[in-house]
Order: sequence, then C-alpha cells, then structure tokens
Amino acid sequence: MSVARACTFSELEQDSPLRVELEGVPICIVKDSAGEVHAIGDTCTHGNISLSEGFVEDDTVECWAHGSRFSLRTGAPLNLPAYEPVPVYAVTIDGDDVLIDPNVTKEI
Ligand code: FES
Repeated sequence: MSVARACTFSELEQDSPLRVELEGVPICIVKDSAGEVHAIGDTCTHGNISLSEGFVEDDTVECWAHGSRFSLRTGAPLNLPAYEPVPVYAVTIDGDDVLIDPNVTKEI
C-alpha cells in the first residue's frame, strides 16, 4: 500500500535484529556492523521461525533452529536446509525514522 514508519534508527542496536509487523507482514530489521539498515522477511523459509531471533554476522542473519544463514542484501539462503530466499524490502532513513513499504520488495 504505502511506505510506513517501521521504527526509529536510534532504537536499532547494532547486529541486534528487530521484529516489526507492517500491514500484517513480519519484517526483520537489522542495523549491521557498518551501520547500514536492512529489512528482510522475518519468517525463515525452512520453518515457521522468526529470523529476528537469530544471529547477525556481517550482512547475514542465521536462523537459530537449523542454522541456515540468509543474506541481508539479497535474502538468499547461503546454506541448507533452507533453499528459498526471503523477501528483501527497501529501507529509507528519514531523519530518525526507518521507513519501509511492506508491499514492495527489492529487485535483486
Ligand atoms: S527453521 Fe530456519 S533453518 Fe530450519
């Protein structure tokens, strides 16, 4: 539908994922160690596990359940057992606001 305020930049802790829901869409937001903010679908494609409960390393997040690691840039799983990507959302920083449109995924 439209871009919405997902959270504030200042509430994001480095390498600590934040789960939000926008229009019913679960999204995992991560500020990586370089200070770049990423937004991907929060549900692991291998199971109904929240990726925001996982572990961030560089520009990836690892699902805690079975260890699949997803790129925060492309949404692609980098190892099994997951083999389907998660969606990636464009992030806009406007002042302290982190803006995301949950209906528009980035073309990778
Ligand atoms: S549920 Fe995420 S790797 Fe299995």
